[in-house]
Amino acid sequence: MVETQDANSQHRRVCIGVLFGGRSGEHEVSLASAQSIIDNIDQTQYEVVPIGITKEGEWIVGGDPMKALTSGIASASSPAALLADPSRRGLWNIRSSPDEQQVGERSREQAITAVRLAELDVIFPVLHGTYGEDGTVQGLLELAGVPYVGCGVLASAAAMDKVIAKNIFVAHGLPVLPYAVITRKAWRRDPEAVIASIEDSLPYPVFVKPANLGSSVGISKAHDRTELPDALDLAARYDRKLVIEQGIEAREIEVSILGNDDPIASIPGEVVPCREFYDYQAKYIDDDSELLIPAPLDAETTAEVRRMAVAAYKALDCAGMARSDFLLDKVTGELWVSELNTIPGFTKISMYPKLWEATGLSYPELIDRLIELAVERFEDKSQSETTFTVKEGA
Ligand SMILES: Nc1ncnc2c1ncn2[C@@H]1O[C@H](COP(=O)(O)OP(=O)(O)O)[C@@H](O)[C@H]1O
Ligand SMILES: [Mg+2]
Repeated sequence: MVETQDANSQHRRVCIGVLFGGRSGEHEVSLASAQSIIDNIDQTQYEVVPIGITKEGEWIVGGDPMKALTSGIASASSPAALLADPSRRGLWNIRSSPDEQQVGERSREQAITAVRLAELDVIFPVLHGTYGEDGTVQGLLELAGVPYVGCGVLASAAAMDKVIAKNIFVAHGLPVLPYAVITRKAWRRDPEAVIASIEDSLPYPVFVKPANLGSSVGISKAHDRTELPDALDLAARYDRKLVIEQGIEAREIEVSILGNDDPIASIPGEVVPCREFYDYQAKYIDDDSELLIPAPLDAETTAEVRRMAVAAYKALDCAGMARSDFLLDKVTGELWVSELNTIPGFTKISMYPKLWEATGLSYPELIDRLIELAVERFEDKSQSETTFTVKEGA
């Protein structure tokens, strides 16, 4: 652990920056997940520094950033920045000094001051979707040299992109439903040709999805040709790359995975959506979707889904955590890998932590373990050399 000595007390608590909000359609979901983590983390071990990111991308700390984001009143919070410079670790407040107005343009640089706001031992990015779950924030955290919870840059980006993830699953022999990929450009240029090519390879119904998103935003089910153009138009609002997938009557099975090089699987759970499929409304607005824990599956299917969940996690080279989602064909009993969520919903009633609870790991213990894994991965990576010197005479 990264616990360090403090001048005033024997030990200071491990300082955890909890990062939430962000420039994503899942901003609000992130606030709920982060609030749960802040409320349930073991405060005797950890000192929490809440770090809010506004919908415009501004980082704020101090005061009550959660309140600032929910109410829009930034009261005692101040702007903060994490620098892509490991020699200046922690959060910085970069501001213009008060007399900036009086200094001329030429000396403006000297009027900008940087004040370190907090030294952070570990950052827990609780950001769902774009600019958070997709490897972008992870890249910043790598450059900043701060250990962080969850997957690295590559796994985050690969899991976020449904096309790339499918390609990797296929390469690892994991079953994925038949699908087609088209670009927004191709759709807008020649709709008839696109429809013909989709119909060549897939029977209706099909699910049309933006390649990079989450929370079912931009996803619709086209039951026949008349519904396909609207479905493609909708998905094309959110991404330049669209996935069209064979639609099946499916049970939705989810498994929580935890670990770095030796990941473990929770017992499986099942989502029973209250609508035709698990769309945004069924996920967050209607209250009637059900979570069945454990999923009512026979022993053989349970073992298979857990095996495949770990295999999918390893295929994407995940670390820390992810939730592996499956579709189980109600008619044929076939099991298909659907997707991996690298920062799954994390409220106390979300599937990811609930599956761990049912497997024997409480919510605070889970947070603890994730922080340990973050440090373990950081220390592992720190052992790799980053410079190369050619020996003379070699
Ligand atoms: N091929 C499919 N067949 C049946 N249902 C599907 C299919 N693809 C997606 N769905 C439904 O749409 C939901 C959202 O799709 P998913 O690929 O998980 O996107 P997201 O990343 O937004 O969660 C799923 O939970 C499921 O209810
Ligand atoms: Mg999903």
